[in-house]
This record gives sequence, C-alpha cells and structure tokens, in this order.
Amino acid sequence: MVLRATIAGCGAYLPERRLSNDELAALHGLDTSDAWIRERTGIGFRHMAAPGETASDMGAAAARDALAHAGVEASEVDAILVATSTPDSAFPATAVRIQARIGASRGFAFDMAAACTGFVYALGVADSLIRAGQARCVLVIGTEVYSRILDWTDRGTCVLFGDGAGAVLLRAEEGTGAIADRGIISCHLHADGRFGDILHIEGGAGSTGGPGLLRMAGKEVFRHAVTKLAAVVDEALAANGLTHADIRWLVPHQANARIIEAMGRKLNLPAERVVMTVERHANTSAASIPLALAEARRDGRIADGDLVVMEAIGGGLTWGAALARF
Ligand code: UT7
Repeated sequence: MVLRATIAGCGAYLPERRLSNDELAALHGLDTSDAWIRERTGIGFRHMAAPGETASDMGAAAARDALAHAGVEASEVDAILVATSTPDSAFPATAVRIQARIGASRGFAFDMAAACTGFVYALGVADSLIRAGQARCVLVIGTEVYSRILDWTDRGTCVLFGDGAGAVLLRAEEGTGAIADRGIISCHLHADGRFGDILHIEGGAGSTGGPGLLRMAGKEVFRHAVTKLAAVVDEALAANGLTHADIRWLVPHQANARIIEAMGRKLNLPAERVVMTVERHANTSAASIPLALAEARRDGRIADGDLVVMEAIGGGLTWGAALARF
C-alpha cells in the first residue's frame, strides 16, 4: 500500500467586477482593440479585484469553496500551501492569513513563489508531503491580484492578466501504486534562472525595492512556452508509461489561447478535451489552473477516473506538469 494525494474538492473565486477588452481600453486610454486582443490571445474579459480586496480575501473564498465541495471541515486541514506572486505582504504569509480566515488552526501554512507555474509547484510539494506522511489534508491555493502589479500604460502586458483564486483540497488515501489509483500520479518541475529577465517584476516588495511592475518580452516567452510545455508533458507521460492517447483532459495554464491550442495539437487532443477559460478570465497566473479545474470538475466534464494533465510556464523561467486521476 502507498499513500496517494487525491483531489477531494475544487473551489473558485472571481471578483465581482468584470471588464471587457473595450471597457479596459477606454478606462486606461489604451491604443488597442477588442479584435487585436482576441486574435492574439483569445482573451475577451477579465475580473478585477475591488479596492482593498487582497490575495488572502480571494484565496480564503476559494478555499472555503473547495472545503464545501469536498465536504471537509476547516478544522481537518493540516497544511495550507499558497501559490502567489501578489501576497498581501512579505509576512505573515498569505497562507497563514487564509488559515485564520477559514477557521483552521492546526498544522502549518506557507507561500510559494513560482509565478504562473506556482500552482503546479505547490501541487508537487503538497503531493510529496502527503506521500511522506507529513500531512493528510492539504489545501493548495493559487490566488493573484495582478491588477496591482500591471503597468497600465503598457498595452503589451496590461491587457493579458486578470484577478482570481482557485483551490483544491487534497486528502491522503491508501492506493496500490497502480496507474489506475485516484490522486496525483506525478509532478515534474523545472526552472532556468538564466531566462529571468524575459518575464519579471521590476523592483517590488523584495530587497531591490522599486515600483514593482510586471515586464515581459512576450514573443520570447511564447517561444519558450510552446517547446518547454510540450517537453514537460511528454516527460510526465513517459515517466508513467503513458501516451497522448491516455489523456482525458488537458487543464493548461491559461496565458494565451494560441499556446493552449498549439499544445492540444501536439498532444493530439480535440478542443473538447482541453479546458479553456482564458476568454473569460484572462491570465490569472497561479490561479488559472485551479480555476479551470474547479469549473470543469463541477460542471461534470472531469469525471471520476479521468486522467488529467496540468501544465504551466511562468516567470523564472519556471515550468512544470502534473498528472492526476480524479
Ligand atoms: O503567463 C506566463 C506566460 N506568459 C505567456 O505565455 C505570454 C506569451 N506571449 C504572448 O502571449 C504573446 O507574445 C503576446 C500576446 C504577449 C503578444 O502577441 P504577439 O503576437 O507576440 O505580438 P507582438 O508582441 O509581437 O506584437 C505585435 C504588434 C507590435 O506592433 P509592431 O511592432 O508590429 O508595430 C506591438 O506593438 O502588436 C503590437 N501590440 C499591440 N497592438 C494592439 C502589442 N500589444 C498590443 C495591444 N493592442 N494590446
């Protein structure tokens, strides 16, 4: 018998305010158009946090939703991992703030920063904690307020991102170690700091100070995305003796519909088996995969027994993939 981290619940939170491309352009006086944004990115709308609404506010809402979906009480949670690049403050960690907010007090809680790959990284760490017997009931949350770190005069980046939070509740269950077991099968994480400059926060809350605004060389990131994501998904499949034909659902990081469609083609997956939220959510960084998971699990698309591949790339560069059976 082995310990497996099963995905017992999925939760989501999106701020109330929803902005179309045209509304965003008018609000910030941007020289752009709905047609350009849709054609190059697939984005139509994004949600925006209310003034004063923080990563912990949104993460707590998504966490409560995941707990309710799993039918688990906050008092049962023994670890909380939060993936975010927009924490409320350097400390207390956003995870600890969420712990207090949802009424959990056992165990431990900490934040992880791997930009848009944050959720896949956090899932990998949570899976290891569960396999090692260090925790049995773990909340993994992605929560982001990118509207606070965007340069609203830079049309090349500010149209791409949105705010939101998603969460999963992982529970330890005994498995046989077979590929048919429910739960996280494996996570494959990578980083290459030599490419730190192509997607980064200039200054910010770290030791370098400054205004803390997002900068991206979009075309370069795009090139890395298509090759690195395909490679890491193939690495995950090969590690488990699986092929493209075994994938039931692709739940990718939602940065750009063109990248997602390219991945679907590489994996020979029809569009109906790829979960896409980018049109309505834009890029919510570490929140985008758990938001997409929550949508597809709760509307019945992802069924019990389905094999799901998650993949993401983000600032660092960081990238990774996770395989899970629901
Ligand atoms: O989540 C982390 C990972 N991030 C990503 O995966 C993002 C990857 N990159 C991308 O998704 C794309 O590169 C972008 C959507 C960011 C940009 O699309 P692109 O097709 O690579 O466009 P580009 O940057 O090459 O720009 C093409 C043109 C430029 O004009 P010129 O130089 O050809 O005259 C830009 O100035 O489009 C212009 N442009 C815009 N025009 C209207 C850039 N942004 C806009 C805009 N509206 N918002």
